[in-house]
Order: sequence, then C-alpha cells, then structure tokens
Amino acid sequence: MNSVKKMSPIGIFDSGVGGISVLAEIMKWLPDEEFIYLADSANAPYGIKGCECVRDLSISAARTLRSRGIKSLVVACNTATSVAIQHIRNEFNIPVIGMEPALKPAVEAGNSGNIVVMATPLTLREEKFNRLFERYNSKAEIIPLPCPGLVEMIESGAVQGQIQNYLINLYKDIDISKASSIVLGCTHYCLIKREISAFAGKKVLIVDGNEGTARQLKRILAENNLLKEQTTFHRELGSQNKVEFLTTGDSSVIIPMCEKFMEKALDANGGFND
Ligand code: DGL
Repeated sequence: MNSVKKMSPIGIFDSGVGGISVLAEIMKWLPDEEFIYLADSANAPYGIKGCECVRDLSISAARTLRSRGIKSLVVACNTATSVAIQHIRNEFNIPVIGMEPALKPAVEAGNSGNIVVMATPLTLREEKFNRLFERYNSKAEIIPLPCPGLVEMIESGAVQGQIQNYLINLYKDIDISKASSIVLGCTHYCLIKREISAFAGKKVLIVDGNEGTARQLKRILAENNLLKEQTTFHRELGSQNKVEFLTTGDSSVIIPMCEKFMEKALDANGGFND
C-alpha cells in the first residue's frame, strides 16, 4: 500500500502563478517526484479578499487536489496558509506544508538595519503574521509593507519599468538605505525577485521561504516514508520531474502562462539566492 502511495504525486496550490516559484525550488530538492500544480486563477488575487472567503477558496483548492490522489499537499501561498492551514490539516490525513513570511532567517542573518516584510494585505492583517511579528520584534525593527495590486501586475505579465514604478511609489515613505533585508512574504513576489533586488540595491538581502518549504517537505515525506523510490529506469535516464498544471481559470490562457513562469523560475532559481 505504501509503495503505491509513494508513487503518488505531490499537490501544490496557489491563487495563481506565484506558487510556481516554490514548485521550482521543490523540484531541485525532490527531482524524482511528480507534481500537480493548481492555480486558482478564477479567484485570484486572494490577498485583498476577506478571511472567510479565502479560507473557503483554499479548502476547495485542497479538495480538488486531494481528489487526484496526492500523497502530500503544499499550500504555496502565504495568504491561504494564514487563514486556512489548520482547517486543511484537520480535514486531510496527508502531510500538509504551509508557508509564512521568512522573518526568522532574515533576523538570524544578523545584519543591522530594518527588515521590510512585503506581503498581501490579508497576510499582514492575520494573527499568524502578528504572532511572528511579536516573536521577532525585539530583535530587529520590522516594517510590514502591504502590497495591494502587485499580484495582479505579476499575473498580467507587467514589464520591469511598470514594476519599478510600483516599487518607487510603494516605498515612498520608507528609507530603503536603512533596510538590511526585504522578506518576500508572498510567493508571487519571488517571481520578480531580480526587479526587487535591483530596486533595493546590492546591500539589501532578499529573503524568501521557498528553500525552507522545500527542505521541510522533503523532511516530512522522509519521516512518513513517502519519498518516491527511484526506479532503475529513472536512474538510467536521470531525474524525471513531471508536472501537471490545473487551473480554475481559462486553461487556454493560464496553462501556457504557468509553463512560461515555470521556465522563468527554473532559469532564475540558480541565481535566486545569490
Ligand atoms: N501568492 C500568494 C501568497 O503567497 C498571494 C496571492 C494573492 O493575493 O492572490 O500570499
């Protein structure tokens, strides 16, 4: 029975394409696994909606993936994790991994200066983030920075100039020269990490939770004896990640967009933590 389970895919969802940055990192850590990625694009963005609404949407996305026989679920969305992770864990008897703004590594980097946390308005309003804020507030000056509209820009394929203008306006009341790091508390923002880094300057460390999530997933699959065993065939051919994309939106538009972002994320991945 467990050998059948081990061969099952891992489910990943986000409100849209943002979670693809997480998927690209996970594929580096788990090159033999298969994945089903669900972009809930018909309902994006989540981050400007109410808590109950996003909770219902997240549970529904999780159910869609569960019905496909996944062995584990990654909620590749900080916003959905904030409001729904406990509900999803209560309903499903498979390992469920969530995401939160990576404040811990930013604080532990120990650089002096402010830590700016860019995230959706809903993530920053929720109790989960406020608990995190309280935990690290005495160790560093933390500036929560809600970014309404940024997810929509990324989803619509905004070009660098548009993103730079958005960032200039977003940071108009923040002295970026006093920042030591920027935490990307929304998986979409990882897709524009280079643009954010170019705006902030080389001295500012850009931190995201993707590697932590990938490590955590691998650890939990190993603990539950759910890592896929490499077949001889796979071993001969090398790593064989397989991804199926699903969407609640218009698949003729969204699936090619997912594939495009996947290529971009895989290309950029090597350089993401430079
Ligand atoms: N990618 C999601 C996150 O990590 C949010 C996107 C949204 O607002 O839909 O928070």
